[in-house]
Amino acid sequence: MAVTVEIGRQFVSDEDLEVIADKVKAAHQLIFNGGGPGEEFLGWVSLPENYDKEEFARIKDVARRIRETSDVLVSIGIGGSYLGARAVTDLLQPDNDDFEVIFAGKSLSARELNDIMWRLECRDWSINIISKSGTTTEPAVVFRVLRQKLIEKYGEEAANKRIFATTDREHGTLHDLAVDREWEMFVVPDDIGGRYSVLTAVGLLPIAAAGIDIDALMAGAAGARGDLIDEKNTAVQYAAARNILLGKGYDIEVMSCFEPSWASFNEWWKQLFGESEGKDGQGIMPNSMIFTTDLHSLGQYMQDGKRQIFESFVVIAEPISDIQIPEDSAEDDVGYLAGKNLSYINDKALEATIKAHSDGGVPVNVVRIPRIDAYEIGYFIYFMEVVCGVSAYVAGVNPFNQPGVEAYKRNMFALLGKV
Ligand code: PA5
Repeated sequence: MAVTVEIGRQFVSDEDLEVIADKVKAAHQLIFNGGGPGEEFLGWVSLPENYDKEEFARIKDVARRIRETSDVLVSIGIGGSYLGARAVTDLLQPDNDDFEVIFAGKSLSARELNDIMWRLECRDWSINIISKSGTTTEPAVVFRVLRQKLIEKYGEEAANKRIFATTDREHGTLHDLAVDREWEMFVVPDDIGGRYSVLTAVGLLPIAAAGIDIDALMAGAAGARGDLIDEKNTAVQYAAARNILLGKGYDIEVMSCFEPSWASFNEWWKQLFGESEGKDGQGIMPNSMIFTTDLHSLGQYMQDGKRQIFESFVVIAEPISDIQIPEDSAEDDVGYLAGKNLSYINDKALEATIKAHSDGGVPVNVVRIPRIDAYEIGYFIYFMEVVCGVSAYVAGVNPFNQPGVEAYKRNMFALLGKV
């Protein structure tokens, strides 16, 4: 199994696991066999094998074409329509790759959009507009502004060849516009919700444009599916432990990682779990920290604050990169570390933090990944999707709807006078 989880057993006993075992087994079956609320959105479960191979090949072709004709791909989308792609590109895009993927349409900030337009000056660029509904305000507004810029730069006909639309197969404003303007289109499958869609064209086109091996990503997801289809697995045990901890009053989970390039992955994970579980007055609030940075800010709360948080450390076994601490005649405080690798020091900080937080009464889980590459990240994505689905069903909520997201929209549309 590529990803493993060690549960903090001082807070989750065998008896606790026994009590919840039948519920967990049933939840696992609802994910792999259907029959639960929201079952019409289980398309992601078989996706690693049942994806559209023709579209997948076209994604790779288009990504190649974009890289040949552009310096930048502006990927416009919000929530599930960008978080997965940004998580994967931040972790896996080769450091020496000059091509840039800019994520836009994820806010209504004029400053952010002006900054993006400034970064596009004097560069060749294309747009991938991603919206399942095709009506989400943030990406729609930003797309309108950037589309006009693209037309100013290239003229209407050439601009249309630089726009790629990822949306519903048959319906919606964006779908109709794409047909009318002859933009090349990719599909968000009907049976896959936004936050489970990173391994569809939603995530795959920007990820492939960033020069990342999407075959390996899908192979990793398929590997996870093979491992998790049997109900006795570490993902299911983790889902059980989360619910046991929730029952004991630990209603905040912090995902902690000692690798700053993991930060966007935390954001993807927070959306996945927050939108899936936070409903009907229930749910574990997902939160995240990047260490050692946050040890110097939120570390105090973790160590000593209200005991309502449990922590899941993401541990990457192989260092992504390394630097040796040089010898130096200066009498600073770190002479004893000369000759040591930075990854070694970071590992010791990790060990020290796990022990300190456990000793401080924080239930600690350790999620281990062998290394950061496309296969392992594909595996991890699928792994966490299964944990999330099983965990939500154990808690008795539908993992695949998000009724709460509509409330602010209703108010905003009323204030803006939308007809
Ligand atoms: O997970 C979800 O369903 C949401 O976060 C959506 O992805 C987000 O609201 C964007 O929706 P759309 O792709 O329809 O523009």
